[in-house]
Amino acid sequence: MKMKVPFFDLSPQFYSIEGEIRSALDEVFKTQQFILGPKVETLEQTIANYCQTRYAIGVASGSDALLLSLMAFGIGTGDEVLLPPFTFFATAGAVSRTGATPVFIDIDEETHNIDPSKIEEKITSKTKAIIPVHLFGQCADMDPLLQIAKTKKLFVIEDAAQALGAEYRPHLNTNGKRAGQMGDLGCFSFYPTKNLGAFGDAGMVVTDNPHLAERTRLLRAHGSQPKYFHKWIGINSRLDTIQAAILLVKFKYLEKWTTERQRKAERYQLLFRDLLSSVSDLKLPMIQYQNRHIFHQYVIRVLGRDQLRQFLTGEGIGTDIYYPLPLHLQECYSFLKYQRGDFPVSEKTSEEALALPIYPELTEDQQMFVVDRIKAFYVK
Ligand SMILES: Cc1ncc(COP(=O)(O)O)c(C=O)c1O
Repeated sequence: MKMKVPFFDLSPQFYSIEGEIRSALDEVFKTQQFILGPKVETLEQTIANYCQTRYAIGVASGSDALLLSLMAFGIGTGDEVLLPPFTFFATAGAVSRTGATPVFIDIDEETHNIDPSKIEEKITSKTKAIIPVHLFGQCADMDPLLQIAKTKKLFVIEDAAQALGAEYRPHLNTNGKRAGQMGDLGCFSFYPTKNLGAFGDAGMVVTDNPHLAERTRLLRAHGSQPKYFHKWIGINSRLDTIQAAILLVKFKYLEKWTTERQRKAERYQLLFRDLLSSVSDLKLPMIQYQNRHIFHQYVIRVLGRDQLRQFLTGEGIGTDIYYPLPLHLQECYSFLKYQRGDFPVSEKTSEEALALPIYPELTEDQQMFVVDRIKAFYVK
C-alpha cells in the first residue's frame, strides 16, 4: 500500500459546496457592498448564537480580534498580560502591539494548555489580563483560571482561534460552556485552514457585555461615532462582506465537519493502540474532563520527532510542527530576558509535538497508511 496523504487539503471541501459558494458570491457582487452590511450582521448573529453569547463583532482576522479585545480594555504601556508561551505568535504579538508586556505561564504537559496552578505566582500590581489559549481545539482548564481572575480582578480574553464549537466540561455544565463564552471576550480566527475557514483572513470577537461589544465595534472602524467623529483611536479591521458570505455557507456544515474530525481522532486512537504498548514515549492527545474537543489539530508527542517527521515526508505523508520554538525564546522577545529552561514543559513539547493530518475528508485508508508508516518507523 502506497499513497499520498497531504497534511491538509481544502479542495474536496470546496468542490462539495462549490455551487453554493458561487451563488453566495454572486449575491455580494450584485449588491456591490463589500464592507460590513447585512451578510456580516447575519454572520455575527450566527456566531453569537453558536457560542451562546449576546454579541459578536466581525473583524479582519483572529490576530485583530485579540488586539481589539486588549484595546477594548484600554490595556497598554506599563500593563502586563499573562499567556502561555506555547501558542501561535499572534497571542503575544497582540499584547506587544498595545505596548503592554506579555508574561508567560508554562503549559500543562497533557493538554498543552496554560497550567492554572502556575498563574498566581506571576501576578503583580501591573497584571491586567489573562489570555488562555484553547490550543488544537480543546478548552483550557477554565474553572481555576476564572476563579483566580475573579479574585485578582483580572480580565479574561479567550484565544479561541482554534476552538470554535469546543466545550468545557460539558458533563458538569449542563449545556457545556462554549469556547469564547467563558471569559470577558472571546476571539476567533477564520483563517482558511481553521475548522471554519474563510477564503482569506477573517475573525470575530464574542462577548456578553454590551459595553465591551460597543467598544470593540467602534474600535474596529477607527473608533468613529458618528462617522468622521472619533470617540477613540481605533484601527481599520472590518470583516469583508465576501468572507462573511462564504462563512455563512460553510457554517451550515460546521457541525458535520466537526463530527467527522472527532471520528478521525477516534480512529487514530484505535489504530495507535498496539503501538502505545510497544513505544513507551508515544503520547496521543488527551481529552480532559470529557471536554468537547473539536480537533483542529491532532498532535502526538514522540521523542525523536524530527527523525519521524523526515521519515513520514519520504513516505508521502504531510505533517507539521506546532510550535517549533516557544515564544519566550523568540528573537523578537530577547529583550524580555527569558532563558531556555524557564518554561520546561513548553520547551519539551516544542521538541516532541507532531501534528498529523486531520480533516473531515481524510479517508480511513489514508489514516491506516499514516499509522502503518509510523509503525514501520519504529520497527525498522
Ligand atoms: C492560537 C491562535 N491565536 C491567534 C491566531 C491568529 O489568527 P489569524 O491568523 O486569523 O490572525 C491563530 C491563527 O493562526 C491561532 O492559531
